[in-house]
Amino acid sequence: MSATAEASEALDAAIGEIALALKSGAAADQEGIEVTALKLADSCDNREIRVLAILDAGRFFYVTGRPEVGIRIAEMAKSFALETAQVAATITAYNLIGVCSADSGDLPRAMEAYAEGLNLARRAGDAVQEAKLLGNTGVALNYAGLFRESKACLQKVVALGEVDPDFAVMVRNAYAGIALCCLHLDEIGPGIAAIEKCIALSIEPTDAHSIQNRVLAENYYSRLLIEIGDFDGAWRHARAARQFANKSKSPRAEIQASVAEGLAEAFSGNLDVGLSRLTATLARAQELKLPQREVLVALVKALEYAGRHDEALKYLQEMLAQQRQTAEANVLHHVHQHLLQLHSADADSPIEDVKQIMRRMETHVEVIEGRAAKIELIKQKQELFRARIEAMERLAVAAELRDDSTGEHSYRVGRMACLLAKEAGCDDETIFMIDIAARLHDVGKIGIPDGILLKPGKLNGSERLVMEMHAEIGADVLVKSEIPHIRMAEEIARHHHERWDGTGYPAKIGGREIPLAVRITTLADVYDALTHKRPYKEAWTAEASLSEILSLRGTHFDPELTDLFLALVSRLRREHRDLDHHLGEAARASPFIQARGKIWETLKLAKDEYQQQFQRTMDLQR
Ligand SMILES: [Fe+2]
Ligand SMILES: [Fe+2]
Repeated sequence: MSATAEASEALDAAIGEIALALKSGAAADQEGIEVTALKLADSCDNREIRVLAILDAGRFFYVTGRPEVGIRIAEMAKSFALETAQVAATITAYNLIGVCSADSGDLPRAMEAYAEGLNLARRAGDAVQEAKLLGNTGVALNYAGLFRESKACLQKVVALGEVDPDFAVMVRNAYAGIALCCLHLDEIGPGIAAIEKCIALSIEPTDAHSIQNRVLAENYYSRLLIEIGDFDGAWRHARAARQFANKSKSPRAEIQASVAEGLAEAFSGNLDVGLSRLTATLARAQELKLPQREVLVALVKALEYAGRHDEALKYLQEMLAQQRQTAEANVLHHVHQHLLQLHSADADSPIEDVKQIMRRMETHVEVIEGRAAKIELIKQKQELFRARIEAMERLAVAAELRDDSTGEHSYRVGRMACLLAKEAGCDDETIFMIDIAARLHDVGKIGIPDGILLKPGKLNGSERLVMEMHAEIGADVLVKSEIPHIRMAEEIARHHHERWDGTGYPAKIGGREIPLAVRITTLADVYDALTHKRPYKEAWTAEASLSEILSLRGTHFDPELTDLFLALVSRLRREHRDLDHHLGEAARASPFIQARGKIWETLKLAKDEYQQQFQRTMDLQR
């Protein structure tokens, strides 16, 4: 046999092996498949089949719960598809990178991949891929707590589905997602309309996956009906959820059904029965090591309804502890990955670590005695710091996106803090560090449940206590990250709600005991929060915000810094017609925020097209 024939036979075998592995599931030899996928990427014949096989291999790792390997292989498929100009496969690869990243908890990366994919799909006029990507983006946004934006994405899927009846399944799932968003956004009427459409589109489900989806849909329906006081209806749909759950025999579906039943019972007069069912469901979820979040949410809701606030708080804290654990695990995991990457990149570059740079900097300065060389080395050191902090920064933005949908708040605070540091006479290095460290001030918000973070209006006592924990959560996450030079960021995260008079939290320190970088950031943070709209408050005018800050001089804020700050803001407002735009420059350079921007553009574009189409119809009917 010739060498080429032999190679092509080996490749055919490899492709077969991957197909088989996908069918048989987790039992297959996972390392073998990764090696095979690598081999496939190396060869250039039969490019269409090859790229599909590599994508299959990636999907295999996604399905079998190893999304990190899935991402690696999907990246490989993407490069190969790009090299060989295969557009459809490139889009599929982006989608796979997205779902794997979302599955491993790296939402920022998922959003970036979806945005790239969406862009390509739109340009290629591929509506099926576009709908798939939008559906997945909607799910990712939902996880991130960005319900309004998630809803917009899913509505676009529905609009695409109206054009092409082949999208029925995607449209049905999109309606379920919209209903869940509405439940969180307190838009009960539209939520009920969406879930009714979802259920109307469901034929009697037969396979495990669609039965499980139906249980979820019945669960949402039941919870929505509770919100309008239709307890009979809630009961009916909770019972429907139970029937489908019995059919599916999946423990996950069973827990979903029990949550719907427990809530329906608690709200229709059988409080104790409902509560004991929910408590038992929680125990069962714990025993099966299944996610407990939904059960805890239901318990808190039922206990609050019963007026048993102390117990509600207990479960709320448990929810928080769990969320904190997974959030921390995710944060640390990604930071670790990022450091590993940096480490391998460092291996052949002259920058091993900061200490070495410092040493080299000293020798250089001795030898060359040139200011230029010194600046160059400081720049290198700053670059290294910036690279190390980048992973944290993306997470901080992801945390913040839940209550500031533009994601620019933390960047504006960093920029403003750095300008104030300059006014306060800090040295160049401190000024640089404050800009970046202050961006992380609210990273601890990843640990705060949506119900509290996004609650419109005032928080009650126990909710406030939970909210205040974001300072310590953030500091803990940063300490554990083991990133060098993180100390300033940790101090800022921990103490940015302390007050000059010692009445803040969490440590109740005051005066100069609060580190300077923290006192600076506090001013920038409060001003920015006051001047912008949040789910719980309207935006204040600059004038009102400045006079509020002046009134808190010496109680909340360092008096000397307050004077510098007020002068600084007046000057900046004279110099820049759009101060927000100026301060948010770094945000717009962030690839994650750019990815979000691209998605919104796509959505807007699609909406305009839809409207044009609508108007054309109007013209025809005239
Ligand atoms: Fe904060
Ligand atoms: Fe903030």
